[in-house]
Amino acid sequence: MATPTTQTTTKTKFVPARTQIATPTDLKPEEVEAVANAVNPLIADNFALFTKTKNFHWHLSGSHFREYHLMFDEHAESIFAGIDILAERMRKICANTIRSISHISQLQTIADDNDEFVIPRDMVQRLLADNRHMAEAQRAAIAVCDKNRDTPTGNLLQDILDQTERRIWFLYEVTQGGDHTF
Ligand SMILES: [Fe+2]
Repeated sequence: MATPTTQTTTKTKFVPARTQIATPTDLKPEEVEAVANAVNPLIADNFALFTKTKNFHWHLSGSHFREYHLMFDEHAESIFAGIDILAERMRKICANTIRSISHISQLQTIADDNDEFVIPRDMVQRLLADNRHMAEAQRAAIAVCDKNRDTPTGNLLQDILDQTERRIWFLYEVTQGGDHTF
């Protein structure tokens, strides 16, 4: 005859409602703060440059329409892809990240572009300047991550920087030679 097993009841522990985010991490609060202060403006800039690139994708006109329309869309896609990767990375290390459009506008270092009409040559040059600015900021953020023991964020930023440099390459090369009147 089988021995009856003892029935154990599992009690659910009451967890009070949280009033703040407290994801566990072995990074020190000051290390998290340093990384978040370097990375959150990059995310805001990704939103700003994504919007600007789409703006030019939508408002393009000229003989290079198809070529630039497609290139801007490809660039916008690569810029957008970095947003969720970096924002989720901030949450993994118990940092806050972007909450709203107004928060983006507080942190962005890439200016909006509300011009009524921009000729294609200027679109390319403005995006080239913005992407170069972005590359510089991303490289500086990698150094902050290294200094604060956050190699995973630094590694993610290396791939994101590689994508930024790819966009710089394409934007730069289309400004070289040929007909600059567009
Ligand atoms: Fe489109």
